[in-house]
Amino acid sequence: MTLVGRTDGRVDVDPMVFDSEFFGPAAVQDPYPLYESLRRHNPICWSQRLEAVVLSGYDDVNEAYRSRSVGQGDRSFGYVRKMPREAREELHPLCPYMPRFISFLDPPDHRRQRDLVAQVFRPKVIEAMRGPIQMRVTHLLDAVPPDGQLDGLTQFALPLASLTACELVGVPVHLRDQFIAQVMTIFSFLGSDLTDVQSARAAKAAYAWITSEMLARLHAPAASDDLVGSLGRLVAAGEAAEADACGILVGLVQGGFETTTTLISNAIFTLLSHPDSLDRVRQNGALLPSAIVEVLRYEGSFKYVMRQAYEDIELGGERIKAGTTLALLLGAANRDPAAYPDPDLFDVARDGRTNLAFGVGPHFCLGAPLARMQAEIAVGTLIARYAGLRLTGPCESYRWRNSALLRQLEALPIRIDG
Ligand code: HEM
Repeated sequence: MTLVGRTDGRVDVDPMVFDSEFFGPAAVQDPYPLYESLRRHNPICWSQRLEAVVLSGYDDVNEAYRSRSVGQGDRSFGYVRKMPREAREELHPLCPYMPRFISFLDPPDHRRQRDLVAQVFRPKVIEAMRGPIQMRVTHLLDAVPPDGQLDGLTQFALPLASLTACELVGVPVHLRDQFIAQVMTIFSFLGSDLTDVQSARAAKAAYAWITSEMLARLHAPAASDDLVGSLGRLVAAGEAAEADACGILVGLVQGGFETTTTLISNAIFTLLSHPDSLDRVRQNGALLPSAIVEVLRYEGSFKYVMRQAYEDIELGGERIKAGTTLALLLGAANRDPAAYPDPDLFDVARDGRTNLAFGVGPHFCLGAPLARMQAEIAVGTLIARYAGLRLTGPCESYRWRNSALLRQLEALPIRIDG
């Protein structure tokens, strides 16, 4: 890839070349050659479409993540600004909630909100979910039709991750399908290029439904020891604002299910397309946790996260001006040979715990233990139960979703007979 024109003090790379390759069909199927080229030749460059400086080296991404001069910026409103006036007006009542999402906050608000989540997101609560997750996995596999054909993404990973997220935030069983559909409506809109009034209206209606359900749960008599019960008690005691509690619940479901669906389906796909690695894990179950961490490094769920420089800073020898938006390429950093020897090798015994798939620093993913636990139970059960587990076609025939943000397959047809 030819990227040109970096000048002193400003990052000035041909944005057309970058965007056409970064968002092009070849990179959707396999972004890693492009990442390699970026790391090698242009570890800091400019994307017109993201309106951001793009960082791809492990050290630069890590440094930007941890820097006190870098923060969350006004990401929640970037997409709103690009909309036509009618769509912006349609969304207006939605906007006041957006800045309360924990991921959008900087200190001191972020610390306060994170402490609140940590109070209720205790290891005990997560560990108590192990049994229900195992039961759900068994139930989903029991329901596979006799021909042994299964879409490992839509019929296994997605229902597992979304129902677990619903359980975490206390959505009653009879409302779960509706809840999941509404969350998907909101976040397929927020994470997309859709700017039309209908999509804005649908997102607003979905948000209104979820908010009213969550508020009802928060104000229900909260005897339970789960997340909603704990949050409800904090709201009742005046120790948490209602809007914050509601933002946490919706944010956890969103943070929880698309990403975990992706991890579980990527883990199944990667192991089945590396039969030697699959055999190693089958023969030595103790390798399962490191195999899941290696999937996060090798084929992580998020391609990038966004940040903003609050002060002038230097990254990778370039001066970045205050106010500049940054895109941190997690997928590229996790394959940096300076951080991981032989980075394109999928090695289930590698100690890849320094990988950036869950972020790093103050915004490190709060759901990481839950996501890893779900993936270990799901993948461990699947590979132990079906000796003949396999993909239904060559690896190259599997298509990846055309999403700039998520590294997720479109579908994962597998056979589980044997
Ligand atoms: C494989 C699955 C997951 C991946 C790859 C993932 C990834 C991430 C990443 C990269 C961040 C940092 C975002 C940033 O720096 O801007 C993050 C934050 C977060 N994640 Fe996850 N996540 C996963 C699962 C979950 C689950 C299951 C939950 C909860 C149920 C969750 C809840 C959160 C929350 C609340 C934050 C915000 C933390 C903060 O801003 O302080 N995540 N996640």
